[in-house]
Amino acid sequence: MLKFVVLSDLHLVDEGETSQGLDTHARLQRGIEAINTRHADADFCVLAGDLADLGHQGAVAPYTRLKELVAGLTMPCHITIGNHDNRDAYVSIFGEDERAETGFIDKVIDAKGYRVILLDSAEHGTHEGVLDAAQIDWLTARLAEAADRPVVIVLHHHANPLHTRVDRIILRDADRFLAALKTHGDIRQVIAGHVHYTSCGLWYGIPFTTLAGGHYNVTVPLDPEAKVDRLFGPAQFAVVLGDEGQTLVHFDNYLDGNAVLS
Ligand SMILES: [Fe+2]
Repeated sequence: MLKFVVLSDLHLVDEGETSQGLDTHARLQRGIEAINTRHADADFCVLAGDLADLGHQGAVAPYTRLKELVAGLTMPCHITIGNHDNRDAYVSIFGEDERAETGFIDKVIDAKGYRVILLDSAEHGTHEGVLDAAQIDWLTARLAEAADRPVVIVLHHHANPLHTRVDRIILRDADRFLAALKTHGDIRQVIAGHVHYTSCGLWYGIPFTTLAGGHYNVTVPLDPEAKVDRLFGPAQFAVVLGDEGQTLVHFDNYLDGNAVLS
């Protein structure tokens, strides 16, 4: 059975700094310890973007810190980026090979009868998600190659409306993404981070999931105008299990506590 872990929204900062008062470096360390302890049998780990807190503002040091931390994982790690990241800064530390032929941090992982596809939905200058036309073509081609297998997609931005405030920074033009997904008959999950809370939905017949990630969690008022409180936790990663008959997503809260952050 395929087993992989998805971590998202690490929001790493430079040494000695915090983000929203949280030591995100220590939180990721705790996450990695939990993965190594509880899920050492996973085939791989995926990081779904917002690796750095201020990557989009030019910070490079968090990527160096990230590289050191993920070296502690006992399994391979596959990475894409989010709206708080900078593609060039990421590549300057992790290497040019991280770019797919699209030029973006897209990736295909074939394992245990599944195809897992990572998509880079970051666009410089905005917190909204964007998939370039070249990426939609690339995705369609990668899906066609895997017509005989179940597929799981991981990207940073949510594509399905969640009817909360975070829809202001949803994936743009998600209809093009949806149309590409519809060319494949067996999309088992589309997993995103970005929103800092857990959700699952079936959108036009395709299952969409978000996980809370490693940074702060949030309250989820179902009013896009309502104030959202940031919470200490839970910090969470997703554990995906897949065989022929089922694809299952578990949520492992590796840091608990939901105190409101001032
Ligand atoms: Fe994000």
